[in-house]
Amino acid sequence: MGSQTVKRAILLSAWIIIIAAAIIEALIFLHLVRLPFVQVNVFGATHSLTHWIGWIGTLYIAFATPFLPIVRRKAPIYFENTLNIHIIGNLVAVLLVSVHFAHQVTRSASSYPDLGTGVVLYAAMMLLVATGILRYSGIGKRFAKQIIFLHPAFAVTFYLVIILHILHGISLI
Ligand code: HEM
Ligand code: HEM
Repeated sequence: MGSQTVKRAILLSAWIIIIAAAIIEALIFLHLVRLPFVQVNVFGATHSLTHWIGWIGTLYIAFATPFLPIVRRKAPIYFENTLNIHIIGNLVAVLLVSVHFAHQVTRSASSYPDLGTGVVLYAAMMLLVATGILRYSGIGKRFAKQIIFLHPAFAVTFYLVIILHILHGISLI
């Protein structure tokens, strides 16, 4: 397959995952779908199902992302494949985190969470997706070049805020 064909396939898959995430989120917001509030035990820690789904997505983004700049420097021949995995993997992780996000912000008034770090994180994640798509697709090339720095900048925001969010989530702050 030519690299242009691969690029089209990646972009099409990217949009399919984004649209699927938006539909799942809308269904949760409209209270049409809700994952059962079951407790799941992982290595002795017990939490709700949606909590673990959020953990999986977050851990994936946090640990998989640094591979891209590392591969670029140390093993550039694998860069293109790593970038494809960066895009599709991160978007699947964003979908998982969206399930956690949507369940949190639609909790009943009597047990409503303390909105804060999670909202900032979600905004940073949406901006990562938007700037990532802009950079990969090359839509508006001159504009995309000027804002190229935003994608890693939002990644830094993500890493800083996730620490605060986890400390808040496990009730340390
Ligand atoms: C990018 C990843 C994540 C996003 C976008 C996100 C988003 C949110 C949002 C919007 C809330 C509502 C409260 C707030 O605004 O802070 C929330 C609550 C919560 N999140 Fe996350 N979350 C993420 C990852 C995680 C992770 C990894 C954990 C594991 C500790 C976690 C644990 C919790 C808990 C325990 C609450 C309830 C807090 C409360 O009741 O006040 N989240 N999350
Ligand atoms: C959601 C979590 C994401 C995080 C934390 C993240 C983070 C990063 C980081 C740290 C870099 C390397 C810094 C740089 O090259 O400027 C990078 C590069 C890149 N990312 Fe992401 N990213 C995410 C999602 C995405 C998505 C969804 C896309 C595309 C749809 C994407 C497309 C790209 C592209 C095209 C590059 C540049 C590769 C190159 O140098 O040519 N990223 N990302």
